Amino acid sequence: MKIMIGNDHGGFAVKGPIVERLKDLGHEVIDVGCHSEAIVRYPHYARKVAGAVARGEADRGILLCSTGIGMSVAANKVRSIRAALVTSTTMARMTRRHNDSNVLCLGGRITGLFELLDIVETWLAHDYEGGRHAISLGLIDAWEQEVGLGVPDDIDLPVNEKGAS
Ligand code: RB5
Repeated sequence: MKIMIGNDHGGFAVKGPIVERLKDLGHEVIDVGCHSEAIVRYPHYARKVAGAVARGEADRGILLCSTGIGMSVAANKVRSIRAALVTSTTMARMTRRHNDSNVLCLGGRITGLFELLDIVETWLAHDYEGGRHAISLGLIDAWEQEVGLGVPDDIDLPVNEKGAS
């Protein structure tokens, strides 16, 4: 699978081992940054990754911030994105099987590294069940059409992110 990964400063420390695990599993990884613990704004990275998944430029997305919350809030603004904030392998399995989540949001300062790696593997190993769950996803699709959520154009990430928090 082609997987795009993005993070803010709060997710940077755990990104390296996650990227390595993804590569070990045979996935193609596109890392859009950020690449240090200097403070940046997470919505830029959420837009970059969620937009790419929505436009079909990546199969799945993974977003890392301190809690995973901001990334999930932002990513879910993009049409067709089902971004799931996950803190356990049970949630990882359920959100693939029931929600067909296409973006995984993780809290780099909330969940331990070994658990994060297990979550990523579990999320990639499970398929959507369809069936009764398709009724709910269909309702969300209809809702998106009704309120007019869109797919954003790609952006160039700001060069100077200093001052963000
Ligand atoms: C940044 O300090 C922090 O707010 C961010 O990483 C994320 O956890 C937001 O939800």
